[in-house]
Amino acid sequence: MKYLQYIVPLVAATEAVPLLSPLDWLSGSESKLLQNPLNYINGLKDASVNKAQDNELTKAEMVKKFFATNEFDPNTKSYKSRLLETSEGEYVIAQDDDQVDEQRRQGKFMDITDHYDFYEQLKQQTVEPIVVDYPTNVSHYDTITHKLLPTLEKANLVEHLSNFSSYHTRYYKSDTGLESSLWLFNQILDVVKSAGREEDIEVFPFDHPWAQKSVIARIHGKNSKGSTDSSEKKDESVVVISAHLDSTNLILPSILAAPGADDNGSGSVTILEAFRALIAGGFEPLNTVEFHWYSAEEGGLLGSQAVLTEYKARKVPVKAQLQQDMTGYVKDPANERFGVITDFVDARLTNFVELIIKEYTQLPYIEDVCGYACSDHASGTKVGYPSAFVIEDKFSDINPFVHTIKDTMDRLSFDHMLQHAKLTLAFAYELGHYSFAE
Ligand code: BES
Ligand code: ZN
Repeated sequence: MKYLQYIVPLVAATEAVPLLSPLDWLSGSESKLLQNPLNYINGLKDASVNKAQDNELTKAEMVKKFFATNEFDPNTKSYKSRLLETSEGEYVIAQDDDQVDEQRRQGKFMDITDHYDFYEQLKQQTVEPIVVDYPTNVSHYDTITHKLLPTLEKANLVEHLSNFSSYHTRYYKSDTGLESSLWLFNQILDVVKSAGREEDIEVFPFDHPWAQKSVIARIHGKNSKGSTDSSEKKDESVVVISAHLDSTNLILPSILAAPGADDNGSGSVTILEAFRALIAGGFEPLNTVEFHWYSAEEGGLLGSQAVLTEYKARKVPVKAQLQQDMTGYVKDPANERFGVITDFVDARLTNFVELIIKEYTQLPYIEDVCGYACSDHASGTKVGYPSAFVIEDKFSDINPFVHTIKDTMDRLSFDHMLQHAKLTLAFAYELGHYSFAE
């Protein structure tokens, strides 16, 4: 709570609340206001000025000021103060890492500092939103059910999670955060090498300004020309399967242990096992299917925003993203189920996910909302890619030990994780072979 009072809510002038006009403090003597939040807050209290302002313009001007006064650190290659979006168009400014950590403990924010301009540009473009039709029936039931799903191995989930959750922390700025991402990278590379698929499957770390990497495995679709140059990929569609690989201990992220077995070691090894079984089973999709393990979700969806804004800028035709974050905890074994999140997602894709659950898994699902941008599916949604999000149960029944030293694998169900792996494999196979209409 120590720092909470220093965090500045960035609010636009409204008729109801008399505020200091941002244009007043944008000029002249008040130029330090954003650097001294207490002054800013006092300024608000004292202000009697309430000029009629266009709210949008006012916020845009405030943000402009934020960037104009923000220090860019060439060593960390990032801004010192951070612009945190707490809900659509609502911002909080954190002046340093401590303030970000404090806001993090409150949850519910996306750190959009590095991509604010890009998002604003997207809003200016009057392009039609991508509307994708998904299959209403499954097409590969026998292959998936009889050939591929039986090859998913619970023992691999256990072994991988045992390794992955044994790092002191996978905090994205830490050395062990980096090491853990490289360990995962090597596991993925091993899968590709054992199958002799180096020609059509790329595996690469995605670098960030912070230590830990995101990791991407790209299975080039037969419809693609195998090129990373978007101009050559006219008939290509890309399907993304994702999970975040970092962990955090919210009390002292840089110091305390964060095994992150459930959040999100479970999702990371779930999609790894689906990837392994697909590749071992000779998966050669028509569409390009990519597996993404994102860094720094816990920092405010930082890794997924970096990857997906870059994809959007390169016009990569992502037709679906399935995010899984926490796949291992079962609160009530008599009532085991998937949680299907219905906010910050694409409704059509979510319907398709529900079809896959019904056809290919042994569990029911329950729909629920997070109420905020709670995981990396929100980064896809933010740039206009259709995304879906599945978790281990409904929001209120998820693992109570997340973000603590007690998020360990002995508290998890590997049978439940296997059900998520089935969902993942079936989703990738069905959409990997689907002809998306242009
Ligand atoms: N695993 C959680 C997301 C989550 C929480 C999913 C509850 C389902 C139910 C994720 O790693 C997380 O901690 N998200 C943050 C938000 C993020 C943008 C910093 C959160 O929920 O506070
Ligand atoms: Zn988390």
